[in-house]
Amino acid sequence: MKLTLRPYEPGDFEALYRIDRACYEPGIAYSRRMLREYLELPESRCLVALLGQEIAGFVIAVWQDWYAHVITIDVGEQARRHGVGSALMSAIEKQMAQAGVRMVELETALNNHPAIAFWQKLGYRAVSVYPRYYQNRTDAYRMVKEIASVRFRRPRM
Ligand SMILES: CC(C)(COP(=O)(O)OP(=O)(O)OC[C@H]1O[C@@H](n2cnc3c(N)ncnc32)[C@H](O)[C@@H]1OP(=O)(O)O)[C@@H](O)C(=O)NCCC(=O)NCCS
Repeated sequence: MKLTLRPYEPGDFEALYRIDRACYEPGIAYSRRMLREYLELPESRCLVALLGQEIAGFVIAVWQDWYAHVITIDVGEQARRHGVGSALMSAIEKQMAQAGVRMVELETALNNHPAIAFWQKLGYRAVSVYPRYYQNRTDAYRMVKEIASVRFRRPRM
């Protein structure tokens, strides 16, 4: 099925909420209120991935100046291992680079082995641990990646 990416639209909200609930256990999954708050932050950007007509996943990130934070990336279970997560991250990192971002940061649970493998494949590295970071008291890795900003690059002479 064809994969397309587009910016979040308000009508997507319930689908995103359902995917997030299915992706994370209680204590890590967002309430409707938290998800809405993240989507409505002034610096927030959300990209949605569609497989055919169906929403297969999404990513939410915020950035300001040279620094970006990935709030969440969620791919529905049936759509996993088909490059959806990689496509979402590639597209949002491109937007970040165009905005001048040079450092991307995120947190992921120490026991979330698929996610850790995913982030490592994309070039992120764990630099520290936040003890009891999540509501359910699970620890999190802080993971970072440097990206090449394209905003201030001088044209070649
Ligand atoms: C993590 C997640 C976003 C990955 O999305 P995805 O669309 O399946 O990822 P991709 O298909 O682009 O995978 C890219 C690479 O990441 C690695 N990877 C992804 N899932 C993996 C898994 N379950 N086990 C091992 N490696 C994995 C692989 O190297 C994979 O490449 P390959 O399939 O060619 O071997 C998805 O599993 C997910 O939504 N999980 C639940 C929510 C979550 O944990 N989000 C991250 C929280 S920080």
